[in-house]
Amino acid sequence: MKSIKLGSFTLIIAIVFAVWFSKFESCSGRQGRHWRKLKASPASAATFNVLDFGAKGDGHADDTKAFQAAWAAACKVESSTLVIPSGSVFLVKPISFSGPNCAQNIVFQLDGKIIAPTSSAAWGSGILQWLEFTKLSKITIRGKGIIDGQGSVWWHGGKMSSTKPTALRFYGSNGVVVTGISIQNSQQTHLKFDGCTNVQVYGISTSSPGDSPNTDGIHLQNSQDVVIYSSTLACGDDCVSIQTGCSNIYVHDVDCGPGHGISIGSLGKGKTKACVSNVTVQDVTFENTLTGVRIKTWQGGFGSVRDVMFSNIQVTDVETPIMIDQYYCDGGKCKNATPAVAVAGINYLNVKGTYTKEPVHLACSESLPCTDITLDTIELKLSQKSKRSNGPFCWEAYGELRTETVPPIDCLETGNPSKTGARANKDSC
Ligand SMILES: *[C@@H]1O[C@H](CO)[C@@H](O)[C@H](O)[C@H]1NC(C)=O
Repeated sequence: MKSIKLGSFTLIIAIVFAVWFSKFESCSGRQGRHWRKLKASPASAATFNVLDFGAKGDGHADDTKAFQAAWAAACKVESSTLVIPSGSVFLVKPISFSGPNCAQNIVFQLDGKIIAPTSSAAWGSGILQWLEFTKLSKITIRGKGIIDGQGSVWWHGGKMSSTKPTALRFYGSNGVVVTGISIQNSQQTHLKFDGCTNVQVYGISTSSPGDSPNTDGIHLQNSQDVVIYSSTLACGDDCVSIQTGCSNIYVHDVDCGPGHGISIGSLGKGKTKACVSNVTVQDVTFENTLTGVRIKTWQGGFGSVRDVMFSNIQVTDVETPIMIDQYYCDGGKCKNATPAVAVAGINYLNVKGTYTKEPVHLACSESLPCTDITLDTIELKLSQKSKRSNGPFCWEAYGELRTETVPPIDCLETGNPSKTGARANKDSC
Protein backbone atom coordinates (compact mmCIF):
# COMPACT_ATOMS: atom_id res chain seq x y z
CA MET A 1 0.00 0.00 0.00
CA LYS A 2 2.58 2.44 1.14
CA SER A 3 4.83 1.98 -1.87
CA ILE A 4 1.90 2.44 -4.31
CA LYS A 5 0.97 5.70 -2.60
CA LEU A 6 4.52 6.88 -2.73
CA GLY A 7 4.72 5.86 -6.41
CA SER A 8 1.64 7.83 -7.44
CA PHE A 9 2.79 10.85 -5.41
CA THR A 10 6.07 10.86 -7.31
CA LEU A 11 4.15 10.57 -10.58
CA ILE A 12 1.94 13.57 -9.77
CA ILE A 13 4.96 15.67 -8.86
CA ALA A 14 6.60 14.65 -12.14
CA ILE A 15 3.51 15.62 -14.19
CA VAL A 16 3.17 19.00 -12.45
CA PHE A 17 6.81 19.71 -13.08
CA ALA A 18 6.60 18.63 -16.72
CA VAL A 19 3.57 20.85 -17.41
CA TRP A 20 5.19 23.83 -15.70
CA PHE A 21 8.43 23.28 -17.57
CA SER A 22 6.78 23.01 -20.99
CA LYS A 23 4.88 26.25 -20.38
CA PHE A 24 8.06 27.97 -19.38
CA GLU A 25 9.77 26.70 -22.50
CA SER A 26 7.02 27.82 -24.87
CA CYS A 27 6.43 31.24 -23.39
CA SER A 28 10.06 32.12 -23.15
CA GLY A 29 10.52 31.61 -26.89
CA ARG A 30 9.57 33.95 -29.69
CA GLN A 31 6.65 31.64 -30.44
CA GLY A 32 5.08 32.17 -27.03
CA ARG A 33 2.11 34.24 -28.17
CA HIS A 34 1.53 32.07 -31.15
CA TRP A 35 1.50 29.02 -28.93
CA ARG A 36 -1.21 30.48 -26.74
CA LYS A 37 -3.32 31.41 -29.74
CA LEU A 38 -3.01 27.95 -31.20
CA LYS A 39 -4.01 26.43 -27.91
CA ALA A 40 -7.06 28.66 -27.70
CA SER A 41 -8.33 27.85 -31.17
CA PRO A 42 -6.70 25.07 -33.16
CA ALA A 43 -8.88 25.92 -36.17
CA SER A 44 -7.06 29.20 -36.73
CA ALA A 45 -3.86 27.49 -37.78
CA ALA A 46 -1.61 28.84 -40.45
CA THR A 47 -2.89 30.54 -43.58
CA PHE A 48 -0.92 30.86 -46.79
CA ASN A 49 -2.04 33.50 -49.26
CA VAL A 50 -0.89 32.99 -52.84
CA LEU A 51 -0.26 36.75 -53.11
CA ASP A 52 2.44 36.36 -50.46
CA PHE A 53 4.14 33.76 -52.63
CA GLY A 54 4.48 36.01 -55.64
CA ALA A 55 1.17 35.53 -57.43
CA LYS A 56 0.20 38.58 -59.49
CA GLY A 57 -3.48 37.85 -59.90
CA ASP A 58 -3.76 40.09 -62.95
CA GLY A 59 -5.10 37.41 -65.30
CA HIS A 60 -2.00 37.59 -67.52
CA ALA A 61 1.11 36.74 -65.51
CA ASP A 62 1.72 33.03 -64.96
CA ASP A 63 0.92 32.35 -61.30
CA THR A 64 1.65 28.62 -61.40
CA LYS A 65 4.92 28.85 -59.42
CA ALA A 66 3.29 30.95 -56.71
CA PHE A 67 0.51 28.38 -56.33
CA GLN A 68 3.09 25.60 -56.13
CA ALA A 69 5.06 27.42 -53.45
CA ALA A 70 1.96 28.27 -51.41
CA TRP A 71 0.80 24.67 -51.62
CA ALA A 72 4.23 23.35 -50.58
CA ALA A 73 3.97 25.49 -47.44
CA ALA A 74 0.33 24.64 -46.67
CA CYS A 75 1.00 20.95 -47.26
CA LYS A 76 3.29 20.78 -44.25
CA VAL A 77 0.84 22.15 -41.70
CA GLU A 78 -2.21 20.33 -40.43
CA SER A 79 -5.47 22.30 -40.78
CA SER A 80 -3.77 25.03 -42.76
CA THR A 81 -5.60 27.25 -45.22
CA LEU A 82 -4.38 28.16 -48.67
CA VAL A 83 -6.00 31.46 -49.63
CA ILE A 84 -6.84 32.53 -53.17
CA PRO A 85 -8.29 35.95 -52.45
CA SER A 86 -11.25 37.61 -54.14
CA GLY A 87 -10.73 40.49 -56.52
CA SER A 88 -7.92 38.78 -58.40
CA VAL A 89 -7.72 36.55 -61.45
CA PHE A 90 -4.98 33.94 -61.42
CA LEU A 91 -3.67 32.33 -64.58
CA VAL A 92 -2.52 28.84 -63.63
CA LYS A 93 -1.09 26.10 -65.85
CA PRO A 94 -1.75 22.39 -65.20
CA ILE A 95 -0.81 21.81 -61.57
CA SER A 96 -0.97 19.05 -59.00
CA PHE A 97 -1.70 19.63 -55.33
CA SER A 98 -0.41 16.36 -54.07
CA GLY A 99 0.12 14.15 -51.11
CA PRO A 100 0.59 11.55 -49.84
CA ASN A 101 2.95 13.34 -47.52
CA CYS A 102 0.77 16.37 -46.89
CA ALA A 103 -0.74 17.00 -43.48
CA GLN A 104 -4.47 16.46 -43.28
CA ASN A 105 -7.38 18.86 -43.10
CA ILE A 106 -6.08 21.43 -45.54
CA VAL A 107 -8.57 24.04 -46.76
CA PHE A 108 -8.27 25.50 -50.23
CA GLN A 109 -10.12 28.79 -49.71
CA LEU A 110 -11.05 29.91 -53.20
CA ASP A 111 -12.65 33.36 -53.35
CA GLY A 112 -10.88 34.70 -56.44
CA LYS A 113 -10.91 33.37 -59.95
CA ILE A 114 -8.55 30.84 -61.48
CA ILE A 115 -8.32 30.70 -65.26
CA ALA A 116 -6.64 28.16 -67.54
CA PRO A 117 -4.20 29.07 -70.31
CA THR A 118 -5.61 28.90 -73.83
CA SER A 119 -2.37 28.49 -75.79
CA SER A 120 -1.41 24.97 -76.81
CA ALA A 121 2.19 25.68 -75.74
CA ALA A 122 1.10 25.96 -72.11
CA TRP A 123 -0.38 22.46 -72.20
CA GLY A 124 1.78 20.04 -74.10
CA SER A 125 0.00 16.89 -75.18
CA GLY A 126 -1.76 14.12 -73.31
CA ILE A 127 -2.45 16.09 -70.14
CA LEU A 128 -5.50 14.58 -68.45
CA GLN A 129 -6.34 17.30 -65.96
CA TRP A 130 -5.79 20.94 -65.24
CA LEU A 131 -6.14 21.28 -61.44
CA GLU A 132 -5.42 18.02 -59.67
CA PHE A 133 -5.61 17.04 -56.00
CA THR A 134 -4.18 13.61 -55.28
CA LYS A 135 -3.63 11.29 -52.33
CA LEU A 136 -4.90 13.62 -49.65
CA SER A 137 -6.75 12.98 -46.47
CA LYS A 138 -9.47 15.48 -45.54
CA ILE A 139 -9.21 18.15 -48.15
CA THR A 140 -11.73 20.96 -48.57
CA ILE A 141 -12.23 23.41 -51.40
CA ARG A 142 -14.62 26.16 -50.41
CA GLY A 143 -15.41 29.78 -51.14
CA LYS A 144 -17.24 31.98 -53.60
CA GLY A 145 -14.59 31.70 -56.26
CA ILE A 146 -14.64 30.58 -59.86
CA ILE A 147 -12.63 28.03 -61.78
CA ASP A 148 -12.79 28.84 -65.48
CA GLY A 149 -11.32 26.36 -67.96
CA GLN A 150 -11.76 28.79 -70.88
CA GLY A 151 -12.54 25.60 -72.76
CA SER A 152 -14.02 26.99 -75.97
CA VAL A 153 -10.62 26.68 -77.67
CA TRP A 154 -10.81 22.91 -77.04
CA TRP A 155 -14.39 22.19 -77.95
CA HIS A 156 -14.52 22.31 -81.71
CA GLY A 157 -11.15 20.96 -82.83
CA GLY A 158 -8.26 23.15 -83.85
CA LYS A 159 -4.89 23.85 -82.35
CA MET A 160 -5.28 22.16 -78.96
CA SER A 161 -4.27 18.57 -78.14
CA SER A 162 -6.89 15.93 -78.91
CA THR A 163 -6.73 14.74 -75.27
CA LYS A 164 -8.91 17.19 -73.42
CA PRO A 165 -8.26 17.77 -69.72
CA THR A 166 -10.70 17.60 -66.82
CA ALA A 167 -10.81 20.98 -65.07
CA LEU A 168 -10.73 19.84 -61.44
CA ARG A 169 -9.89 16.28 -60.47
CA PHE A 170 -9.54 14.50 -57.13
CA TYR A 171 -7.71 11.22 -57.14
CA GLY A 172 -7.12 8.68 -54.38
CA SER A 173 -8.33 10.90 -51.56
CA ASN A 174 -10.50 10.35 -48.51
CA GLY A 175 -12.72 12.97 -46.90
CA VAL A 176 -13.13 15.44 -49.74
CA VAL A 177 -15.44 18.47 -49.51
CA VAL A 178 -16.16 20.81 -52.42
CA THR A 179 -18.56 23.62 -51.61
CA GLY A 180 -19.56 27.10 -52.73
CA ILE A 181 -17.46 27.40 -55.85
CA SER A 182 -18.43 27.65 -59.52
CA ILE A 183 -16.66 25.70 -62.23
CA GLN A 184 -17.25 26.88 -65.75
CA ASN A 185 -16.34 26.30 -69.36
CA SER A 186 -14.28 23.24 -68.68
CA GLN A 187 -12.14 21.81 -71.44
CA GLN A 188 -13.82 18.45 -70.77
CA THR A 189 -15.38 17.19 -67.46
CA HIS A 190 -15.78 19.96 -64.89
CA LEU A 191 -15.28 18.00 -61.67
CA LYS A 192 -14.06 14.43 -61.39
CA PHE A 193 -13.54 12.06 -58.46
CA ASP A 194 -11.56 8.90 -59.07
CA GLY A 195 -10.66 6.44 -56.33
CA CYS A 196 -12.09 8.64 -53.57
CA THR A 197 -14.12 7.86 -50.46
CA ASN A 198 -16.31 10.05 -48.25
CA VAL A 199 -16.95 12.84 -50.70
CA GLN A 200 -19.36 15.73 -50.14
CA VAL A 201 -20.21 18.18 -52.88
CA TYR A 202 -22.79 20.87 -52.13
CA GLY A 203 -23.75 24.39 -53.06
CA ILE A 204 -21.69 24.38 -56.23
CA SER A 205 -22.44 25.10 -59.85
CA THR A 206 -21.00 23.95 -63.11
CA SER A 207 -21.76 25.69 -66.35
CA SER A 208 -20.83 25.33 -69.98
CA PRO A 209 -22.93 25.62 -73.14
CA GLY A 210 -25.28 22.78 -74.04
CA ASP A 211 -23.32 22.14 -77.24
CA SER A 212 -19.85 21.96 -75.66
CA PRO A 213 -18.77 18.35 -76.23
CA ASN A 214 -17.92 15.98 -73.35
CA THR A 215 -18.21 18.64 -70.69
CA ASP A 216 -19.74 16.44 -67.97
CA GLY A 217 -20.71 18.27 -64.81
CA ILE A 218 -19.54 15.78 -62.17
CA HIS A 219 -17.93 12.46 -63.02
CA LEU A 220 -17.57 9.71 -60.42
CA GLN A 221 -15.39 6.66 -60.85
CA ASN A 222 -14.21 4.00 -58.40
CA SER A 223 -15.58 6.13 -55.57
CA GLN A 224 -17.72 5.25 -52.57
CA ASP A 225 -19.85 7.15 -50.09
CA VAL A 226 -20.43 10.22 -52.18
CA VAL A 227 -23.16 12.80 -51.61
CA ILE A 228 -23.91 15.59 -54.08
CA TYR A 229 -26.63 18.10 -53.23
CA SER A 230 -27.94 21.66 -53.52
CA SER A 231 -26.14 22.22 -56.78
CA THR A 232 -26.89 23.55 -60.23
CA LEU A 233 -25.34 21.63 -63.08
CA ALA A 234 -25.48 22.95 -66.64
CA CYS A 235 -23.17 21.47 -69.24
CA GLY A 236 -22.82 19.85 -72.65
CA ASP A 237 -22.83 16.22 -71.48
CA ASP A 238 -24.01 14.29 -68.40
CA CYS A 239 -24.78 16.50 -65.40
CA VAL A 240 -23.65 13.63 -63.20
CA SER A 241 -21.98 10.54 -64.62
CA ILE A 242 -21.58 7.51 -62.36
CA GLN A 243 -19.01 5.05 -63.63
CA THR A 244 -17.65 1.67 -62.68
CA GLY A 245 -16.52 1.02 -59.11
CA CYS A 246 -19.05 3.39 -57.54
CA SER A 247 -21.32 2.50 -54.64
CA ASN A 248 -23.29 4.34 -51.98
CA ILE A 249 -23.93 7.38 -54.11
CA TYR A 250 -26.60 9.90 -53.11
CA VAL A 251 -27.52 12.79 -55.40
CA HIS A 252 -30.32 15.08 -54.23
CA ASP A 253 -31.70 18.58 -54.67
CA VAL A 254 -29.87 19.14 -57.92
CA ASP A 255 -31.00 21.07 -61.00
CA CYS A 256 -29.72 19.65 -64.28
CA GLY A 257 -29.88 21.40 -67.65
CA PRO A 258 -28.81 21.96 -70.27
CA GLY A 259 -27.06 18.61 -70.47
CA HIS A 260 -27.63 14.93 -71.14
CA GLY A 261 -29.16 14.05 -67.77
CA ILE A 262 -27.89 11.97 -64.85
CA SER A 263 -26.33 8.74 -66.09
CA ILE A 264 -25.03 5.53 -64.66
CA GLY A 265 -22.45 4.51 -67.25
CA SER A 266 -21.55 4.04 -69.86
CA LEU A 267 -20.40 0.69 -68.47
CA GLY A 268 -18.70 -2.38 -69.90
CA LYS A 269 -16.99 -0.78 -72.88
CA GLY A 270 -14.40 -3.02 -74.56
CA LYS A 271 -15.68 -6.16 -72.74
CA THR A 272 -14.70 -4.76 -69.36
CA LYS A 273 -16.25 -5.55 -66.00
CA ALA A 274 -18.32 -2.84 -64.36
CA CYS A 275 -19.84 -2.75 -60.90
CA VAL A 276 -22.17 -0.05 -59.62
CA SER A 277 -24.52 -0.41 -56.65
CA ASN A 278 -26.65 1.52 -54.21
CA VAL A 279 -27.32 4.75 -56.07
CA THR A 280 -30.09 7.17 -55.08
CA VAL A 281 -31.07 10.17 -57.18
CA GLN A 282 -33.80 12.16 -55.50
CA ASP A 283 -35.48 15.57 -55.75
CA VAL A 284 -33.85 16.46 -59.03
CA THR A 285 -35.15 18.68 -61.84
CA PHE A 286 -34.22 18.29 -65.49
CA GLU A 287 -34.88 21.02 -67.99
CA ASN A 288 -34.20 20.77 -71.73
CA THR A 289 -31.99 17.74 -71.36
CA LEU A 290 -31.43 14.75 -73.64
CA THR A 291 -32.44 12.22 -71.01
CA GLY A 292 -33.50 12.41 -67.41
CA VAL A 293 -32.30 9.40 -65.49
CA ARG A 294 -30.38 6.94 -67.62
CA ILE A 295 -28.44 3.67 -67.39
CA LYS A 296 -26.20 2.91 -70.36
CA THR A 297 -24.11 -0.20 -70.95
CA TRP A 298 -22.14 -1.53 -73.90
CA GLN A 299 -22.73 -5.00 -75.29
CA GLY A 300 -20.03 -7.48 -74.37
CA GLY A 301 -19.27 -6.21 -70.88
CA PHE A 302 -19.93 -7.96 -67.58
CA GLY A 303 -20.57 -7.14 -63.93
CA SER A 304 -23.76 -5.42 -62.76
CA VAL A 305 -25.73 -2.32 -61.84
CA ARG A 306 -27.89 -2.95 -58.78
CA ASP A 307 -30.06 -1.22 -56.20
CA VAL A 308 -30.84 2.06 -57.83
CA MET A 309 -33.59 4.47 -56.78
CA PHE A 310 -34.68 7.43 -58.89
CA SER A 311 -37.33 9.36 -56.98
CA ASN A 312 -39.06 12.73 -57.12
CA ILE A 313 -37.83 13.55 -60.57
CA GLN A 314 -39.32 16.59 -62.30
CA VAL A 315 -38.73 16.86 -66.05
CA THR A 316 -39.46 19.75 -68.40
CA ASP A 317 -39.05 19.33 -72.17
CA VAL A 318 -36.75 16.35 -71.74
CA GLU A 319 -36.31 14.13 -74.83
CA THR A 320 -36.42 10.78 -72.97
CA PRO A 321 -36.97 11.08 -69.20
CA ILE A 322 -36.50 7.39 -68.29
CA MET A 323 -33.94 5.33 -70.18
CA ILE A 324 -32.09 2.05 -69.89
CA ASP A 325 -29.91 1.36 -72.91
CA GLN A 326 -27.97 -1.88 -72.94
CA TYR A 327 -27.06 -1.32 -76.57
CA TYR A 328 -25.11 1.85 -75.95
CA CYS A 329 -22.72 2.60 -78.77
CA ASP A 330 -21.18 6.04 -78.80
CA GLY A 331 -20.38 6.89 -82.38
CA GLY A 332 -18.83 4.15 -84.57
CA LYS A 333 -20.33 0.73 -85.14
CA CYS A 334 -20.80 -1.87 -82.42
CA LYS A 335 -21.04 -5.59 -82.99
CA ASN A 336 -23.73 -7.60 -81.27
CA ALA A 337 -22.34 -9.55 -78.33
CA THR A 338 -23.92 -11.97 -75.89
CA PRO A 339 -22.35 -10.93 -72.57
CA ALA A 340 -23.85 -7.90 -70.83
CA VAL A 341 -23.57 -5.86 -67.68
CA ALA A 342 -26.55 -7.07 -65.61
CA VAL A 343 -29.15 -4.44 -64.73
CA ALA A 344 -31.32 -5.32 -61.75
CA GLY A 345 -33.28 -3.63 -58.99
CA ILE A 346 -33.93 -0.29 -60.67
CA ASN A 347 -36.73 1.73 -59.10
CA TYR A 348 -38.53 4.77 -60.47
CA LEU A 349 -40.81 6.60 -58.07
CA ASN A 350 -42.67 9.82 -58.75
CA VAL A 351 -41.29 10.88 -62.11
CA LYS A 352 -43.36 13.72 -63.56
CA GLY A 353 -43.35 16.40 -66.22
CA THR A 354 -43.04 16.75 -69.98
CA TYR A 355 -41.07 14.88 -72.65
CA THR A 356 -40.39 15.66 -76.30
CA LYS A 357 -39.51 12.24 -77.84
CA GLU A 358 -40.25 9.14 -75.80
CA PRO A 359 -41.45 8.96 -72.19
CA VAL A 360 -39.84 5.64 -71.28
CA HIS A 361 -37.20 3.64 -73.17
CA LEU A 362 -36.09 0.36 -71.62
CA ALA A 363 -33.85 -1.47 -74.10
CA CYS A 364 -32.41 -4.46 -72.27
CA SER A 365 -30.09 -7.23 -73.33
CA GLU A 366 -31.59 -10.24 -75.04
CA SER A 367 -29.17 -12.60 -73.36
CA LEU A 368 -29.45 -10.93 -69.96
CA PRO A 369 -32.77 -9.12 -69.52
CA CYS A 370 -33.22 -6.35 -66.97
CA THR A 371 -34.96 -7.58 -63.84
CA ASP A 372 -36.77 -6.09 -60.85
CA ILE A 373 -37.60 -2.80 -62.48
CA THR A 374 -40.34 -0.98 -60.61
CA LEU A 375 -42.33 1.99 -61.82
CA ASP A 376 -44.46 3.90 -59.34
CA THR A 377 -46.35 7.16 -59.91
CA ILE A 378 -45.11 8.05 -63.35
CA GLU A 379 -46.86 10.97 -65.07
CA LEU A 380 -45.20 12.04 -68.30
CA LYS A 381 -46.97 14.23 -70.81
CA LEU A 382 -46.00 15.21 -74.32
CA SER A 383 -44.41 18.65 -74.41
CA GLN A 384 -45.91 21.24 -76.70
CA LYS A 385 -42.41 21.64 -78.14
CA SER A 386 -42.38 18.05 -79.39
CA LYS A 387 -42.07 17.54 -83.15
CA ARG A 388 -42.47 13.77 -83.28
CA SER A 389 -42.89 11.29 -80.48
CA ASN A 390 -43.17 7.60 -79.67
CA GLY A 391 -44.97 5.73 -76.96
CA PRO A 392 -43.15 3.86 -74.18
CA PHE A 393 -40.66 1.27 -75.43
CA CYS A 394 -39.52 -1.90 -73.65
CA TRP A 395 -37.39 -4.81 -74.80
CA GLU A 396 -36.57 -7.70 -72.46
CA ALA A 397 -37.46 -5.53 -69.47
CA TYR A 398 -39.01 -7.33 -66.48
CA GLY A 399 -40.54 -5.87 -63.39
CA GLU A 400 -43.64 -4.39 -61.90
CA LEU A 401 -45.90 -1.39 -62.33
CA ARG A 402 -46.79 -0.37 -58.78
CA THR A 403 -49.42 2.14 -59.89
CA GLU A 404 -51.18 3.14 -63.04
CA THR A 405 -48.95 5.32 -65.16
CA VAL A 406 -49.38 8.18 -67.59
CA PRO A 407 -48.98 7.19 -70.34
CA PRO A 408 -49.85 3.52 -69.72
CA ILE A 409 -46.67 1.42 -69.87
CA ASP A 410 -47.93 -1.95 -70.99
CA CYS A 411 -44.69 -3.17 -72.51
CA LEU A 412 -43.00 -4.06 -69.20
CA GLU A 413 -42.98 -7.83 -68.73
CA THR A 414 -44.02 -9.14 -65.35
CA GLY A 415 -42.17 -11.63 -63.22
CA ASN A 416 -38.79 -13.00 -64.13
CA PRO A 417 -37.40 -14.05 -67.48
CA SER A 418 -37.78 -17.80 -67.70
CA LYS A 419 -34.35 -18.59 -69.01
CA THR A 420 -32.32 -16.18 -66.92
CA GLY A 421 -30.49 -18.96 -65.11
CA ALA A 422 -29.23 -20.43 -68.33
CA ARG A 423 -28.52 -17.15 -70.05
CA ALA A 424 -27.15 -15.07 -67.23
CA ASN A 425 -23.54 -14.25 -66.79
CA LYS A 426 -22.28 -14.80 -63.32
CA ASP A 427 -22.51 -11.47 -61.53
CA SER A 428 -18.85 -11.09 -60.75
CA CYS A 429 -19.14 -7.97 -58.62
C1 LIG B 1 -26.46 3.06 -49.50
O1 LIG B 1 -25.89 4.33 -49.61
C2 LIG B 1 -26.27 5.22 -48.59
C3 LIG B 1 -25.61 6.54 -48.89
O2 LIG B 1 -26.16 7.07 -50.02
C4 LIG B 1 -25.87 4.69 -47.23
O3 LIG B 1 -26.33 5.56 -46.24
C5 LIG B 1 -26.45 3.32 -47.05
O4 LIG B 1 -25.97 2.77 -45.84
C6 LIG B 1 -26.05 2.41 -48.19
N1 LIG B 1 -26.73 1.13 -48.06
C7 LIG B 1 -26.07 -0.01 -48.06
C8 LIG B 1 -26.90 -1.24 -47.95
O5 LIG B 1 -24.84 -0.07 -48.13
